[in-house]
Amino acid sequence: MISQKILGIEKANVGEIDELVSRIADEIGRRMLERTSQGRNLVLGLATGSTPIPLYAELVRRHREKGLSFQNVVTFNLDEYEGLSPEHPKSYHSFMQEHLFNQVDIQPKNTFLPLGTYEKPFDEARSYEEKIKAHGGIDLQILGIGRDGHIGFNEPGSSNRTRTRRVILANETREDAAPAFGGIQNVPTHAMTMGVGTILEARRIILMAWGAGKREIVAEAMSGDVSADVPATFLQDRLNTAWYLDGAAAGD
Ligand code: F6R
Repeated sequence: MISQKILGIEKANVGEIDELVSRIADEIGRRMLERTSQGRNLVLGLATGSTPIPLYAELVRRHREKGLSFQNVVTFNLDEYEGLSPEHPKSYHSFMQEHLFNQVDIQPKNTFLPLGTYEKPFDEARSYEEKIKAHGGIDLQILGIGRDGHIGFNEPGSSNRTRTRRVILANETREDAAPAFGGIQNVPTHAMTMGVGTILEARRIILMAWGAGKREIVAEAMSGDVSADVPATFLQDRLNTAWYLDGAAAGD
């Protein structure tokens, strides 16, 4: 079962997550086929972290068992930690190679992530935005949500007009990443992230949240006041957003 990989998530219901992820994979597959028949690329915005792992596992399974092809897929990831080279084992570049890119037939030239080893953050940010634009914008953006309501690494205080830029990571975010880095002292303090404004321009957005640990922030994001204090609240105004929640994350 695919979601065994994330069994660590508090009270997450594995069968339920598999079902939800299968529906998301159906949509992605449908959009990929649609674009192939038009001779065009599908531009996917991708997230990292524990939440999308079962989705990527399902896409890999469909590639292997059902011939789902990524030949016409272009991807833009949300973010990368500052100072980590693409080869660094904890970089989001490595994460994407491991969980998706190495296991499907996507063309390496079609996979984009912000560089973490920039010398000039402003130039890196601008060139990332330009690349997204040059590919026609993001058709479908996959999102997780941080416990502080961040999307991408847009921490509280990020307005809906923010674009790709260098950001300071919140303490809560660094604490959540600490186990993977072997202690908070090893977690980068900054990152490069797509902006909230960049994310909101995607033609379709799918946010996923699993487990009781996300329940409180999901409730706030979906029904709290729309404000930069909880950047995920900006999704409330976007009718093109689907929220995929397991029972533990959805609560009441
Ligand atoms: C990662 C990202 C973050 C995560 C969020 C949730 O690319 O953009 O916003 O989606 O921190 O992380 P997990 O899924 O590990 O709970």
